[in-house]
Amino acid sequence: MDTKVLIPTAENIAYAAHLIEQGDVVGIPTETVYGLAASAFDESAVEKIFLAKGRPQDNPLIVHIASLDMLPLVAADIPETAKQLAERFWPGPLTIIFNKSDRIPPAVTAGLSTVAVRFPSHKVAQALILKTGLPLAAPSANRSGAPSTTTALHVYNDMKGRIPAILDGGSCTYGLESTVILLNGAGDVTLLRPGAVTVEMLKEAVPHVTIDDGVLHEIKAGTQALSPGMMHKHYSPKTNVVILDASLPAFLSFVNSHADESVGAMVFDGEETALKVPFVTYGAANDPMAQARLLFQSLRAVDALGVQTIYARMPRRDGVGLAIYNRLLRAAGFEVIRL
Ligand code: TXA
Ligand code: MG
Repeated sequence: MDTKVLIPTAENIAYAAHLIEQGDVVGIPTETVYGLAASAFDESAVEKIFLAKGRPQDNPLIVHIASLDMLPLVAADIPETAKQLAERFWPGPLTIIFNKSDRIPPAVTAGLSTVAVRFPSHKVAQALILKTGLPLAAPSANRSGAPSTTTALHVYNDMKGRIPAILDGGSCTYGLESTVILLNGAGDVTLLRPGAVTVEMLKEAVPHVTIDDGVLHEIKAGTQALSPGMMHKHYSPKTNVVILDASLPAFLSFVNSHADESVGAMVFDGEETALKVPFVTYGAANDPMAQARLLFQSLRAVDALGVQTIYARMPRRDGVGLAIYNRLLRAAGFEVIRL
């Protein structure tokens, strides 16, 4: 199959909408990361997403809408708190879990009775949803286990020959997947996946926010995860990633003392000048939004260094930093060395 990379003109958006109406899968830009989109009502189209990604069948997809009127098509009950959060954070990088409507086939939710829903702010994603009139199921547009894609070229590299078209919306604004939350009957929030809508921002909107164990800890095989995606190894380059929890001087001396052992470093901007090993940078130490934009592209660049192990600097864990740490932990298979 030939994979076309298309500028999102009105004509090309109409073409992409036509592909989706036919039951095909299209790569689409969103403000978080690129998605692999198909009609959320079309079971066989959704199965093509799983095939294109090589995604485990037990990992449910997020359904994307482009107006609040579409929400009752996909969700069965809409709690008051969800309405308030939607008012505040939609369109934007927040995904809310609802009870699913009957129209959402089990393939979308991996057999769960709940469905994850997001209203993206990206104009191309919105235009495509509105053109089809369909809610679009879309996971991140990477091969399963690989870092998410934040440019059309990343999507092309992972998906060429597997999908008919990609809409090229340039680099993603945030570069990290959406925040995923679950609501309980009392309107309390459980954070399943951190993102650009931070814990601090959620706490301004609701009285109680709990961070699920799976955000910062490995979920043991055999236990039931609230968010199935947390169970899988994720975001990983082929190179072995290890996080070093250390001051900058301790990090530099540790890495440089292993300089003849095929190691590399993943550091913040400017820190590379003191390194004696190959490196990638991922934004300024005090700028988590820049780190978010660069994280996945830096993880993708790691394999080109030709080293066996890459030692990564520890990000801060407040604000958007929590999301960066969550992704980096998974890329490292939870391997953290404290110096
Ligand atoms: O920013 C994003 O969310 C991007 C863009 C394309 O919208 N999408 C994305 O999808 O990151 P994906 O499939 O890579 O991640 C979806 C996450 C997974 O961890 C999955 O397990 C979780 O959401 N999820 C989906 N449905 C769920 C449900 N019903 N209950 C709990 N977790 C769910
Ligand atoms: Mg993903």
